[in-house]
Amino acid sequence: MMKQTILLPGGAGFIGSHIAAELLTLGRDVVIADDLSNARADVIDRLERITGRRPVFYQIDVADHAALDRVFASHPVDAVIHLAGYKAVGESVLKPVAYYRNNLDSTLTLLEVMADYGVKKLVFSSSATVYGPANPIPYTEQMPTGGCTSPYGWTKHMIEQILADACVADPALSTVCLRYFNPVGAHESGLIGELPNGIPNNLMPYIAQTAAGIRSELTVFGDDYPTPDGTGVRDYIHVVDLAKGHVAAIDYAAAHTGWEAINLGTGRGTSVLELVHTFVSVNGVSVPYRIGPRRSGDLPAYYADAEKARRLLGWQAEKSAADMCRDAWRWQQNAREL
Ligand code: UFG
Repeated sequence: MMKQTILLPGGAGFIGSHIAAELLTLGRDVVIADDLSNARADVIDRLERITGRRPVFYQIDVADHAALDRVFASHPVDAVIHLAGYKAVGESVLKPVAYYRNNLDSTLTLLEVMADYGVKKLVFSSSATVYGPANPIPYTEQMPTGGCTSPYGWTKHMIEQILADACVADPALSTVCLRYFNPVGAHESGLIGELPNGIPNNLMPYIAQTAAGIRSELTVFGDDYPTPDGTGVRDYIHVVDLAKGHVAAIDYAAAHTGWEAINLGTGRGTSVLELVHTFVSVNGVSVPYRIGPRRSGDLPAYYADAEKARRLLGWQAEKSAADMCRDAWRWQQNAREL
């Protein structure tokens, strides 16, 4: 593999930092551009501790054209993994304009500057939320997308469309939209992981904070869904597996042109209570919970058809729910000191 420089807009965050760790370990050069609106600067030091190599870091807003231009002028960028964006589903309903402005602007600026510098390879951080509420499960990539249930979801859908249009206009361009299912867990070093702002919205950090005593109990949002135990079913994927999927996607993009959408999931569904029980048994902790009402906007159950990723990328998730729970707990214990 020749020397490669990968730019990660949004690379200091939960998913981006794990991708950076994988790329640095493989000997690729990593440039992170992040405004630190939902990340911490010490991630860069931690990446160096994990990999023995330090990523280049720019604290910039990716929508700032002049600032992004300076990054491309300073580094021979071969490919971009675009992770910059707001990601809180509930907040996006309250602040739709901020979500459209931020998520679309950063993407448009990135595409302009990539075009100026002749960079043709882009992997985009999309979401299973683009499948909307109408499709049967498991979700396959050729299903219709749209009908999203939040402005956040619509930004992912719109950006996928923008990338498809850009590929029509420039046949040399290669864009891979990775549709994440539910990324959880943390790096096994315990040095990087998810740092939710305030009360977590997502299940795994809520479980971990409850086990740590930061929250008194978990509320399970509904136990009357048409699922085996009545609680919601999702496709949880270990963030390190997810990061490896991005490396495979970068290599795929290097060898192809055109637009692709690819699911990154395990292909297996796990219920809320199954995840709680796994967390309790592998970590030997207690997680008090009570059953509450359904959370509005939640779907009963969905998971990925993971076949396309296997076929096109030669990638599949390897880590179990037990691994996810063990690594999430190790990180939670370390994160108390942050
Ligand atoms: N849940 C609880 N209690 C909690 C939090 C979550 O019971 O305190 C349940 C939810 O009802 C759901 C499951 O746990 O059944 C997972 O919920 P998360 O909030 O962790 O994840 P979601 O599936 O709702 O959200 C994910 C991503 C979003 C994405 C969305 C739709 O986090 O980025 O899927 O694809 F938009």
